Amino acid sequence: MFDCHARKIDYLRISITDRCNLNCQYCTPHPFLSRGFYKEILSYEEILRLVKLGVGLGISKVRITGGEPLVRRGVYDFLEKIVHIKGLNDVSLTTNGVLLKANIHKIKSAGIKRINISLDTLSRKKYKKITGSDSFDRVCEGIESARQYGFDPIRINAVILKGINDNELADFAKLSFSHPFQIRFIEYMPMGATTSKKDWYIPMAEMKKKINGAGKLAKLASDPNDGPVKRYKFENAKGEIGFISPVSDHFCEKCNRIRLTAQGNLRPCLLSDYEIGIKKALRAKASDRQLTDIMIKAVRSKPAGHGISKDSLCTIFDSMAAIGG
Ligand code: 5AD
Repeated sequence: MFDCHARKIDYLRISITDRCNLNCQYCTPHPFLSRGFYKEILSYEEILRLVKLGVGLGISKVRITGGEPLVRRGVYDFLEKIVHIKGLNDVSLTTNGVLLKANIHKIKSAGIKRINISLDTLSRKKYKKITGSDSFDRVCEGIESARQYGFDPIRINAVILKGINDNELADFAKLSFSHPFQIRFIEYMPMGATTSKKDWYIPMAEMKKKINGAGKLAKLASDPNDGPVKRYKFENAKGEIGFISPVSDHFCEKCNRIRLTAQGNLRPCLLSDYEIGIKKALRAKASDRQLTDIMIKAVRSKPAGHGISKDSLCTIFDSMAAIGG
């Protein structure tokens, strides 16, 4: 499936709930749509139907996100069903890790191989400040149990916020010496209710400077499966680090993704509020052909690029929790 800018679209990111058991300062998703309004969000059956149709259009890679996906009831059966859809060769999960330890065996037996875990600080106290929840130890235990269960790679996503956790960049990076993690430093994008916090933004180049003292960084060749990350490794390190720079050095020309929100909208670009609804059609008993046409329309409406840059931190209305990152 190609969009109007000759990009091949083969990656679908699915938010299965906008609910979350954390309340991160930079995400601030409240109020949740789906609590008490469960009919507002797509059922698992509806999602699975769309994924199968997507595979027919060339989708081969899926990531399950939220909100926090593990708070939705029935998620492990759903994961198993989606993993077994023929034609998908990569189904991964993004989680905040809070519920990971208790459920890692279910994720494993569902057939998920790759997990991204969000962790923005190495300090328990700061974790509580950022997320509103004293769950730092649980997340660390979750990461450890993912390692014990053989998940590989284990990716750690850290959104870097100036004045909040940018002083931890070197410590985070040093973790890669002793742990086989892929640590990803993500530029903060002003979205949702946090749009007034533009001074949190810190560009990749500045992040890199703060890491330089920690060791000798070698750039790793990028792999076609890497997505937007720029990868580096310290000499003799077990793991690696990487930067995701949607603002200072965007990767729109390589974008291969489309998003399905929990409320049943297709979102062609993360950083544009334009969405195309598909729930209504699903519930009006649309044919496969009609649904497929809506998906093609969404792909065709992918913009060439987003409007956010370091000079113009214009803002997105929706919060990440509604879209899934
Ligand atoms: N800017 C950058 N990253 C964000 N995430 C959530 N909100 C933002 C934001 N405003 C991250 C989460 C998670 C990933 C899916 O997106 O921390 O790691």
